[in-house]
Amino acid sequence: MRTQYYTAASLDGFIATVDDSLDWLFPLGDIGATSYPSFIKEVGALAMGSATYEWMLRHAINPAEGPAEPWPYEQPTWVFTTRSLPGVPGADIRFVQGDVRPVHQEMAAAAAGRNIWLVGGGELVGQFYDNGLLDDIFVQVGTVTLGAG
Ligand SMILES: NC(=O)c1ccc[n+]([C@@H]2O[C@H](COP(=O)([O-])OP(=O)(O)OC[C@H]3O[C@@H](n4cnc5c(N)ncnc54)[C@H](OP(=O)(O)O)[C@@H]3O)[C@@H](O)[C@H]2O)c1
Repeated sequence: MRTQYYTAASLDGFIATVDDSLDWLFPLGDIGATSYPSFIKEVGALAMGSATYEWMLRHAINPAEGPAEPWPYEQPTWVFTTRSLPGVPGADIRFVQGDVRPVHQEMAAAAAGRNIWLVGGGELVGQFYDNGLLDDIFVQVGTVTLGAG
């Protein structure tokens, strides 16, 4: 079981624009042709911060335009937030806050030997790193510059 930060960055090292957009990322290629399909098969639990979760709510689950998409993960997902956020019907989403160490223990038990994916963002991943709980970092570099983020 490994705890992994698997992410994508721009050529100039940003993971999102200043307004938290990932719109630059998805037109860059077919995700099915990347390492993602084999990576996600080995994941047993996910964690993300509330900014990442709310971006998914706005862009996939409840988009202002276009069709809604289903929650993309079958694995349990821990969302770190100090606020009360809506869940997604049918999705196993667990809201938590504070110290990442007990949450990591819960995630490891749920993952049952598979890996833990720290989806992001960077500040949350830093909390796992600071507690010695990050094993691997995978950064896929997209051929785009953002200038800031
Ligand atoms: N390029 C990529 O592959 C990739 C992947 C993932 C994310 N992203 C992007 O990166 C950006 C997010 O980065 P970010 O670091 O700003 O946000 P984030 O980690 O998604 O969310 C940060 C927020 O999570 C909550 N939080 C974090 N740690 C917590 C803790 N220990 N206890 C309770 N709440 C906690 C806090 O919000 P509240 O308490 O106010 O809720 C905090 O402001 C987004 O734009 C996202 O779309 C990019």
